[in-house]
Amino acid sequence: MADIAQLREQLLAEVAASAQPNEVLRGDALKNLYREIPTMPAEKRGEFGQQVNALKQEIEAAIEARQAVLTQVELAPIDVTAPFDVNAKRPSLLPAENGTLHPLTQEMECISNIFGRMGFVTEESREIDDQYHMFETLNFPKGHPARDDWDTFMTVETDKDGDPFIAPAHTSTMQNRILRKYAGNLKEGNAIAAIVPDRTFRNEDLDARHEHTFYQVEGVYVDKNVNAGMLVATLQKFLEEYYGRALEVSVNPFYFPFTEPSFEFALSCPFCEKKGCGICSQSGWIELLGCGMIHPNVLNAADIDPNEYTGFAFGCGVDRLIMMKHNIEDIRHLESGKLKFLRQF
Ligand code: DAH
Repeated sequence: MADIAQLREQLLAEVAASAQPNEVLRGDALKNLYREIPTMPAEKRGEFGQQVNALKQEIEAAIEARQAVLTQVELAPIDVTAPFDVNAKRPSLLPAENGTLHPLTQEMECISNIFGRMGFVTEESREIDDQYHMFETLNFPKGHPARDDWDTFMTVETDKDGDPFIAPAHTSTMQNRILRKYAGNLKEGNAIAAIVPDRTFRNEDLDARHEHTFYQVEGVYVDKNVNAGMLVATLQKFLEEYYGRALEVSVNPFYFPFTEPSFEFALSCPFCEKKGCGICSQSGWIELLGCGMIHPNVLNAADIDPNEYTGFAFGCGVDRLIMMKHNIEDIRHLESGKLKFLRQF
């Protein structure tokens, strides 16, 4: 019994001095007491057990109180005018924890890095745009039926033509700006080569594969004599670098207003070597991105002569790339802000 009283003093003192009071409960002291219970003579066991439980409760209450104090310290305003002594010991009241970059940020840096080594510059998109960049410059004139394929969010506010603004539903909204910004490259005999990894928004029904806020990476490449073989080779190299292994690709005809011809690009499943698995829905292939040769009207909209220059463009879902790389089963984790998920990266 003397044991318990002494231990109580000791544990309470530890809690009072600790920056991570929870740790006190994880120590051996209490565990050893619990281990002692079954070894006690039967007539003493009940009372001893009760005392151990009471002690545990008391320590838990003390931990809670201590944690409340620590949080208060965290919230206390910092006096930036206070004299500063570089030799002062750092107050050890709060546990220091290192943060990490969000997995989306990490992966977009990786993507930007790979394309950077292939000569592509990285550009940013924006979070609100106009119909001109979302549709007109991309060869969807007013009333074009394919406008409805993109479930865009629109603002109530309208521009000078009475059109609502939009939250970009794809990174292709940046194509015209990129073509204009880097048109000087062509005059100097160089290519336009840029990617845009950024946020996009669609009015989707949400499930494990659909999120209203997601990321795409757009690519634009224009020069003299650019052909579809260069498009396929560039994307294949990128994906092999990204997944760190050789992959087969399959390029199938598709339709986008802003490319002609347009393709859907599938890669052999990096997880099952085409045998079929859960990730590729047993098909051995994963449809990953849209791409094609830039439509002459898109070049014209940026005052680039399609008779002189040709180019390719592609748009790829970044969340999808990452989900496959890290075997993430639900796209909604990425925007959830859940620390349990994020701490794995
Ligand atoms: N913007 C398309 C989408 O969101 C993807 C895309 C397809 C981008 C073809 C392109 C392209 O640049 O050439 O579905």
